[in-house]
Amino acid sequence: MSTGPTQTRRKTVTQIAKLKGERPIVSLTSYHAHTAAIVDEHADLILVGDSLGMVMHGMESTVGVPLDLMIVHGQAVVRGTKRALIVVDLPFGSYEESPSIAFRNAARVMKETGCGAIKLEGGRRMAETIHFLTERGIPVMAHTGLTPQSWNVMGGYRTQGRDEDSWPEHEADARAVADAGAFAIVLEGMVEPLAARITGQVAIPTIGIGASVHCDGQILVLEDMLGLNPHPPKFVKTFGNLGAGIEDAVRRYAEDVKSRAFPTEDQVYR
Ligand code: KIV
Repeated sequence: MSTGPTQTRRKTVTQIAKLKGERPIVSLTSYHAHTAAIVDEHADLILVGDSLGMVMHGMESTVGVPLDLMIVHGQAVVRGTKRALIVVDLPFGSYEESPSIAFRNAARVMKETGCGAIKLEGGRRMAETIHFLTERGIPVMAHTGLTPQSWNVMGGYRTQGRDEDSWPEHEADARAVADAGAFAIVLEGMVEPLAARITGQVAIPTIGIGASVHCDGQILVLEDMLGLNPHPPKFVKTFGNLGAGIEDAVRRYAEDVKSRAFPTEDQVYR
């Protein structure tokens, strides 16, 4: 097949998978074109996570996020980027019912956004669906450990694996999604020794969020690491202080508008 003039050289799922054992995989979430363009310079993988429901739209959890919203933000991120692999989350209710419903919705996401893969939550219970999707051309990133879409059954966001007796279940989940054909797994909110064990047991990369340095890569919610979340989870390291920066800029703008110091000659059309 010839490569057309509009084709970009994005990272592929195969290239991401090959990074295991070579170097840590750099991933971040992004939900809109401007920030995605900045992240694109440095990240291997950008996730359009359903956390956008909480971060961008003020929802209490990710449960209420509609598929159409994921598609709108997915399109923005794909438009704003050139090189990272873009993965779009399948939201709650769009894939659990059956493999064929999952395929229909995942194919829609891929066709309408141009992303390179989708992500879905769940271990062994999603293995059949992951196999169904990957066999039909849809690359899947799995997500196990703390799975926020199951918030209502979990009774909150709890760190996984505190009880060593639960480790075999988590390990079986990770092995099942790897065997089913996922190209990577997000391990969220998991005690360090369990994340290390899983990373050693599966041939695909593990991408940790609150799952220690032993994972094959890391992911954070961009707004959390930029300091825009006033109450970030314990596992977040803030690399920026944008919350204070924005507050300061907005305060100075308000002062300038009130005192008529803005606009000046420089901002006026003559
Ligand atoms: O929705 C999201 O942002 C995610 C990451 C936290 C991994 O799933």
